[in-house]
Amino acid sequence: MPVNDPSQASAKFMSFFPSLSASVLVSAVMFLPLASAFSSGEIPVGEFTSLTGGSASFGQSSHKGTALAVEEINAAGGVLGKKIRLITEDDQSQAGQPATIVRKLISQDHVVAILGEVASSKTLEAAPICQQNQIPMITPASTNPKVTEVGDHVFRICFIDPFQGTVISKFARARGWNRIAILTDAKQDYSVGLTECFTRDFVARGGEIVREQKYSSGDKDFKAQLTSIKAAQPDAIFVPGYYGEVSLIAKQARLLGIKVPLLGGDGWVGDSLLKVAGKSLDGCFFSAHFSASDKSERVQNFVAKYQAKYGVPPDDMSALGYDSAMILADAIRRAGTTEAAPLRDAIAATKDFSGVTGLITLDEKRNASKPAVILTIENGGFHFVETVTP
Ligand code: PHE
Repeated sequence: MPVNDPSQASAKFMSFFPSLSASVLVSAVMFLPLASAFSSGEIPVGEFTSLTGGSASFGQSSHKGTALAVEEINAAGGVLGKKIRLITEDDQSQAGQPATIVRKLISQDHVVAILGEVASSKTLEAAPICQQNQIPMITPASTNPKVTEVGDHVFRICFIDPFQGTVISKFARARGWNRIAILTDAKQDYSVGLTECFTRDFVARGGEIVREQKYSSGDKDFKAQLTSIKAAQPDAIFVPGYYGEVSLIAKQARLLGIKVPLLGGDGWVGDSLLKVAGKSLDGCFFSAHFSASDKSERVQNFVAKYQAKYGVPPDDMSALGYDSAMILADAIRRAGTTEAAPLRDAIAATKDFSGVTGLITLDEKRNASKPAVILTIENGGFHFVETVTP
């Protein structure tokens, strides 16, 4: 029960003291600190994400998914008889913001757990603060291995990049591509990590990395790097970046006459990818967490509810955001409390949770072991190619 809602406070008082007169009630309700003695009616949960800025698509989607889950949980009566109150903060896609926000969520809002972020570098900034304060944190989508190594209060419900790197590398080898060039975003832990994971596996499978080039998040001109890559005559180019830069890279590659496919990871998923890239990404491939074309009832229900609420289909971050909130609610229910230590243990014990992104079991390193999907791009749309299991 929110203490600032007099009508609910009044109703609660009524049920405790049915014989009190209305005037006594009014004065009691006005004395709100007294009302708060009866009101631990909500569970505050923090969420930090990039609602604006360079990776706004990540934050918008993950927030929509998380909010839909919280709405469903609350409509079904909440958890432990209480509603979840989601406190969402925008980190504006800017370094420095996650730390400030997470400190505020913990010290001022007294959240019981924190959901976020999508981008690994942002999650890595906030994770040590959650760990020091012993507040459980669940990232829906950060795949860099270092994230959960921060400590035993940091969890993720997505696969990790050593797996994702292998999935892409195996796929490239199966296509018969021997010579790969790589264009890495040096500013993102995600991109640097995925480059390492892919390279290790690709070389172990007999492939060759024929050129390595770098850029920084926010760059707009990639012609110098692409010219160097073109000269190396690769069979395909691996671009483990985020959708904003990837769409420009694809366009500029085609303008320079580069015809080989581009290959990427989950960071490609973003609303402007195809709007900006147009047909430049046709015939390219990337790995992802979720396919909205999955025919299972669970996924189709989620797609229908999401589409009805927001007027757009869910993407990977929507689905992962949704699952992260559902897993937290499930853990609170199993713990029977929101106390940090038992809640941490209950999250760690998550087993065979049936999410919209698949069956989720957390391992001893607090990572999820789950299949990835490979998607291809044709005619302005994503198309399912295959599912790869760990
Ligand atoms: N895996 C990316 C990272 O760790 C984030 C991401 C997840 C992007 C899912 C898109 C979809 O930074």
